[in-house]
Amino acid sequence: MQLLDGKVLSAEIKQEIAAEVAQIREQGGKIPHLVAILVGNAGRSETYVASKMKSCEEVGMHSTLIRFDDDVTETQLLDAVQDVNTNPDMDGLIVQLPLPKHINPDRVMETIDPAKDVDGFHPINIGRMAKGLPAYVSATPQGVLEMLKRYGIETAGKHCVVVGRSQIVGLPMSILMQRNTYPGNCTVTLTHSRTQNLADICRSADILVAALGKPEFVTADMVKEGAVVIDVGLEKVPDVSKKSGFALKGDVKFDEVAPRTSYITPVPGGVGLMTICSLMQNTLKAARGEVY
Ligand code: GUN
Repeated sequence: MQLLDGKVLSAEIKQEIAAEVAQIREQGGKIPHLVAILVGNAGRSETYVASKMKSCEEVGMHSTLIRFDDDVTETQLLDAVQDVNTNPDMDGLIVQLPLPKHINPDRVMETIDPAKDVDGFHPINIGRMAKGLPAYVSATPQGVLEMLKRYGIETAGKHCVVVGRSQIVGLPMSILMQRNTYPGNCTVTLTHSRTQNLADICRSADILVAALGKPEFVTADMVKEGAVVIDVGLEKVPDVSKKSGFALKGDVKFDEVAPRTSYITPVPGGVGLMTICSLMQNTLKAARGEVY
């Protein structure tokens, strides 16, 4: 079993991005600028966005955080998105999800200029990705592809089972893994909460992507010997043995699953770190006008 080490890979990628930004700076070019809109301060959004902004700083990019209270109206939020769309200094825009219930997230995503949609959530980017055209790809699936590529994992002809059909991870992951390119060319099964015989299907996976958001859901009996296991989950669960009172768990019961695998991502220290790298790679592409 080999660990797919997000710490090592993300440090490597950050260095590459920092070197590219330094070169842009030396040549007097446009420094990439990522803007994040955060509404309220509920859940883990605050931490996620802070970490995105800090990573930009670390690689020498510009970043701006625009904050709104929970009671912001949809119109106010859409106006803020339009302001970023029309600001030539701002290259990439993310609106952190989830949004309060009175705001329609689809309307917000569809208002972002597809050329600045570095999260890859706009239907135009999803459609272009599905067609294999240049597009911004959702950061987590893109991070998974980067991991498979950098570890040189063979994917062609393999059975890839994705557990979870979220718009952000499961669905794009399944589309990407079936494309006629590397990493890809897999036979893909996209499973979800209504799937029958889920354990059997998982056991037939050469590459298993767990992205359902249920701590330690995937157990050893659901994994084929020698499979590649990618754990996208990250949840806080109570743990009295820890000083903080909680532990971070993925969707895979790591200790019992790991010995059966050829490669597996740890949690934390796996896919999560790759997600932020993808976002910065996309922002760099946006500043250079590489996608549109
Ligand atoms: N909420 C959870 N993950 C993400 C993400 O990748 N982007 C945005 N905008 N919101 C999220």
